[in-house]
Amino acid sequence: MSRKTIAIAGYHGLLGVDTLAAFVSAQFGNYYDSVRVLTRDPMNVLYLLVDYNDPESLDSALEGVDVLVNLIGFCPHTWDVLAYAAARARVRLYIPSEYDLDHSRYTPEPELSAKEAHAQRARSWGLKTVQLFCGILMEPAMTNHTHFGIMLSSRRIEAVMPQCGGRTDPKISFTSTKDVGMAIASISRHEPRQLADRIVISGDACTLRELAETWGAITRHSVQLAVRPLETYDAGGDIAKQRRLAAGKGYLDLARQHAGWVNNGEWKWTRISQYLAGDLA
Ligand SMILES: NC(=O)c1ccc[n+]([C@@H]2O[C@H](COP(=O)([O-])OP(=O)(O)OC[C@H]3O[C@@H](n4cnc5c(N)ncnc54)[C@H](OP(=O)(O)O)[C@@H]3O)[C@@H](O)[C@H]2O)c1
Repeated sequence: MSRKTIAIAGYHGLLGVDTLAAFVSAQFGNYYDSVRVLTRDPMNVLYLLVDYNDPESLDSALEGVDVLVNLIGFCPHTWDVLAYAAARARVRLYIPSEYDLDHSRYTPEPELSAKEAHAQRARSWGLKTVQLFCGILMEPAMTNHTHFGIMLSSRRIEAVMPQCGGRTDPKISFTSTKDVGMAIASISRHEPRQLADRIVISGDACTLRELAETWGAITRHSVQLAVRPLETYDAGGDIAKQRRLAAGKGYLDLARQHAGWVNNGEWKWTRISQYLAGDLA
């Protein structure tokens, strides 16, 4: 199989460093000829300068690219500009900026459903588009409380949970950015036509109650679980709150549907307890 050329857009966010590391890793580096980073940051001469308002700058950046990995933050218009340029450049595989809940199980509020709409548009432009669903990104969720209501440093977790009907706490899939990067590099090596349109992974899963217990056992301090009733929770137009609502409804408990196919023993998924204990290889 010939070695592929990769382009990554949106490098400077949560997933860029780990995704680039995965493409040059011992496990996947041999599949790829070169990796280009498309960025608006002109300071680093190793990167290709692009302007998403100037599609011609994208045409030359994407010429000869086999796989385009989109890690750009929530910006559907920019995603469209990029994917349309990829279709013009005849990129063979496009991985859109998903890395979230699985739309095939849940029709979310408009903000999150913009991701599904973008993927459908990309397909309508003739791009082989593979959406990667991974649940909640572990690192930002555990360290930035505005992201998911997990405030471990102040020993408090705000959880949206069902109050009635004796329903059990929903599990939530958490996947580390390293594992998302490795999954992207693993998927990209395959012949695009043979890939499923939607790939679902889940690095690890637990309920927020279990998370509080795990953190309590590690630190020997109790963690307060503040429950927000699912039935009356108003997420409004806030994406972070919409993720909490989806979690409360059980839609962030992703099946590890493709986990074994994506990672055929090539690396170890990051466990939640391992991450919390700072015990990472
Ligand atoms: N499931 C979860 O828990 C979870 C949590 C957070 C994020 N996510 C998802 O992960 C993906 C990446 O999110 P992120 O938080 O890393 O994004 P981000 O920090 O907002 O943006 C990542 C990069 O995208 C580029 N970018 C941002 N806005 C842009 C714009 N308007 N036009 C062009 N480029 C722009 C920038 O790269 P350059 O400056 O290099 O061009 C930026 O560094 C998104 O799909 C997001 O929804 C999932």
